[in-house]
Amino acid sequence: MAFFEWSDELSIGVESIDSQHKRLVTIVNEYYEAVQSGCSEQAVRDAVGKLINYAGTHFADEEKLMQDKKYPQIDLHKQMHKRLTEDVIRYAEKLGKGKKIFSLDIAIFLKGWLENHIAQTDKKIGIFLSDKK
Ligand SMILES: [Fe+2]
Ligand SMILES: [Fe+2]
Repeated sequence: MAFFEWSDELSIGVESIDSQHKRLVTIVNEYYEAVQSGCSEQAVRDAVGKLINYAGTHFADEEKLMQDKKYPQIDLHKQMHKRLTEDVIRYAEKLGKGKKIFSLDIAIFLKGWLENHIAQTDKKIGIFLSDKK
């Protein structure tokens, strides 16, 4: 069983966004595997780098969708993306400096953040879009 299992409850009903979320889940699992299997620090750093990159792409696409559809809660939503990005970048910097940090805690944090954000915050975009139809 994967560390982070995708479930249909996480679907927001927008196919392009759902598939990006699934990819994020996969990347969090890769990060977890790298930490768990005692991979080199470099492998852990690479996995975090991949997450930062892909999250950046996903957040930008999601924000563009909100903008295009004139989603009313866009500002608060963007704040949440920004905050998470800053947190993960700060973590990556610490990794780079060889500081002792708890990489497994980060995996648990990321899983929790994503599950919560998708189920609570992203889902509202899906509801907004289906109400507009
Ligand atoms: Fe989001
Ligand atoms: Fe999202």
